[in-house]
Amino acid sequence: MVQRLSHEAKREQWGTKLGFVCAAMGSALGLGNIWRFPYIVGENGGGAFILVYLACIIICGLPIMLGELVIGRTAQSDAVGSFGKLAPKQIWSIGGLLGVLAGFFILSFYSVVAGWALKYLFSAVGGSLWEVDIANYGKFFGVFISEVWEPLIWQGAMMVATIIMVARGVKKGLEHWNRILIPILAILVLILAGYSMSLDGAVKGLTFLFAPDWAKLLEPEIYIIALGQAFFSLSIGMAVFITYGSYLAPNTRLPISAGAIATGDTVFAIVAGLAIFPAVFAFGLSPSAGPGLSFIVLPELFQTMPFGKIIGILFFLLLVFAALTSMASLLEVPVSFFMRVFDQGRSRTTLIVGFLIYAIGIPSSLGFGVLNDVKWGTKSIIDVMEFLTLNLALPIGGMITAFFVGWAWRDRPGSSVIGFKNQVLGVLWLWSLRIVAPITVFCVFLRSVGLI
Ligand code: PFF
Repeated sequence: MVQRLSHEAKREQWGTKLGFVCAAMGSALGLGNIWRFPYIVGENGGGAFILVYLACIIICGLPIMLGELVIGRTAQSDAVGSFGKLAPKQIWSIGGLLGVLAGFFILSFYSVVAGWALKYLFSAVGGSLWEVDIANYGKFFGVFISEVWEPLIWQGAMMVATIIMVARGVKKGLEHWNRILIPILAILVLILAGYSMSLDGAVKGLTFLFAPDWAKLLEPEIYIIALGQAFFSLSIGMAVFITYGSYLAPNTRLPISAGAIATGDTVFAIVAGLAIFPAVFAFGLSPSAGPGLSFIVLPELFQTMPFGKIIGILFFLLLVFAALTSMASLLEVPVSFFMRVFDQGRSRTTLIVGFLIYAIGIPSSLGFGVLNDVKWGTKSIIDVMEFLTLNLALPIGGMITAFFVGWAWRDRPGSSVIGFKNQVLGVLWLWSLRIVAPITVFCVFLRSVGLI
């Protein structure tokens, strides 16, 4: 109790509301938007998928994000402590614990891909990326990810940068760096999209991205993929927004910030699509190249197109910065929890937790080389991690938040206290958390584990 009091009495706070929004945006904008969203859209039918995705954001994602923020802002504690404070001696804290665990596992494989991006950035700047024969990028990528040390070193470098950012604290680390990096991300993605759309033949890419193929809506799989992607992209279901909300003053208005974060994330993903598809189509390449899209198809493209090398450098810079800001939020959730539980300082906790996560991530990295034979069915180690977190932990975490805020929380703040100016919106939000979000997430969850 004494420990808890000592930690919470000096709880860190965001310097400004804008700083909080930037940090939250930094969490949401990441590899999910630039590396994952475009290839998933490509594999699942373009425009029709985007419609389902938008529906998932509006009816489930945004309400749950706001739910997490309300929990954190009210409780002023970390993921687990917040549930514990609002519903003492009840099992709801498991929701927070799941978030801490999900943070560990997501960051462990996320950092692997972030490391690849860093390696490509350095090779693009140093020039070695452009010496690869144009037909050989697949092989180049395959050889690189199957090595033992090189991917681990790049992954480690990204973890070190993340640890430095988080160790500096909420205001001087997370807020400070996100305030610098978010505008840079916005400028980079706009330059890339503008250039891509100005290429001859770009229209085909736009048609692909926006023209819906209605038949796709009959395929149940796309709902699972869209919901998983929506949760992942918005960073919900793993208590990032509980933790970030807890650094806000208890009377901060939340709905507009949540709306801005969800809108910003969605617009950013679509603009990333606009940066990629028009160029991919303009050069007659395949839009649905799977996870290799960023690391095989795009380098090929950069080598062919005018100003391609500069565009390539900007693209990988975008990927690295976007990954870094998300990694910081993934690390902050467990760090904030362990700081309280073990009553330790921030730097020390960040270093230990960061190192542990790096260690857990080693098999994910080796899964493409020496551990290539370790498979679950056809899934590699990284695929299994992705499945367990995206399809299980995040939806379960989201459902726990929805149920807790919607039904179980006795002293839930009224909608005007939360900051709704329009009462109707407050009611819609609550009923979304009570009925719509849980049912949607539950159905998709059952389907994804093969029960329906
Ligand atoms: N939202 C990030 C992205 O789109 O890349 C990934 C992420 C960050 C997921 C933080 C979950 C999270 F808690």
